[in-house]
Amino acid sequence: MTEPTTPGGSAPSERTLVIIPTYDERENLPGVVERLLVAAPDVSVLIADDNSPDGTGEVADRLAADDVRGRISVLHRTGKEGLGAAYIAGFRWGLERGYTVLVEMDADGSHPPERLPAMLDAVDAGADLAIGSRYVPGGSVVNWPWQRHVISRGGNIYSRIMLGVGIKDITAGYRAYRADALAEMDMDSIESKGYCFQIDMTWRLLGNERKVVEVPITFTERTIGHSKMSESIFREAAVNVAKWGWEKRRAQLASLLGR
Ligand code: GDD
Ligand code: MN
Repeated sequence: MTEPTTPGGSAPSERTLVIIPTYDERENLPGVVERLLVAAPDVSVLIADDNSPDGTGEVADRLAADDVRGRISVLHRTGKEGLGAAYIAGFRWGLERGYTVLVEMDADGSHPPERLPAMLDAVDAGADLAIGSRYVPGGSVVNWPWQRHVISRGGNIYSRIMLGVGIKDITAGYRAYRADALAEMDMDSIESKGYCFQIDMTWRLLGNERKVVEVPITFTERTIGHSKMSESIFREAAVNVAKWGWEKRRAQLASLLGR
């Protein structure tokens, strides 16, 4: 069942923008865009490039120029500012243009575009955020080294305990947001730069009593290029999650004590 949000009674996903952040993804980007536009021919695409040294920005411009239906746009940013900053710029771009669903998708092919219709169905059915999840029944990860499994599983368990939420894949980077759930957020206050951004966004949505659902996906590790995951990205997430968890408990205690 769909919940129309536009006067015409159409499903929110009829105006969907897929944001693809890129940093040195020259060889991966064309393939993922092609798969995406086969799997979901009516979406628009915004490539948010941080002035990649390998020329991804020019590749993106070429993809945009070659798309006869004009579905592809490129946001050229001045330098590498992190995944979170690229997405915030992309969200603003999409909200200004009246998109009703905004999607996050990696450029390296790890997020199967073929699962996007299922995620959009979840939003049309009432979710404010549909997470493409590796850790619900039917979801999986292919070709990760064991260290990465430990970090990802560990990060999710840590976040669940610290924040007291039931989401299985809170660090996932494949997501579909209902635009009004983003529009009510104060994006200026989002400081998370790296992958912690994903946890931050989920935490804010839950705080606003928005509905979050998980849709199973198979995440397949990239075969070309390398992950931008770093120790500072890891540290930022660990520190911020502990801080948010602590703030929540302190607020609970304060209300319990009537102060
Ligand atoms: N514009 C921009 N700026 N893009 C970036 C930046 C940046 O600073 N850093 C990374 N990206 C882009 C990459 O080019 C790619 O398209 C996408 O963001 C994901 O980067 P990866 O480096 O491939 O991430 P990953 O595979 O290690 O991590 C993925 O899984 C994590 C969960 O385990 C991502 O989906 C993360 O968002 C997610 O948290
Ligand atoms: Mn990746």
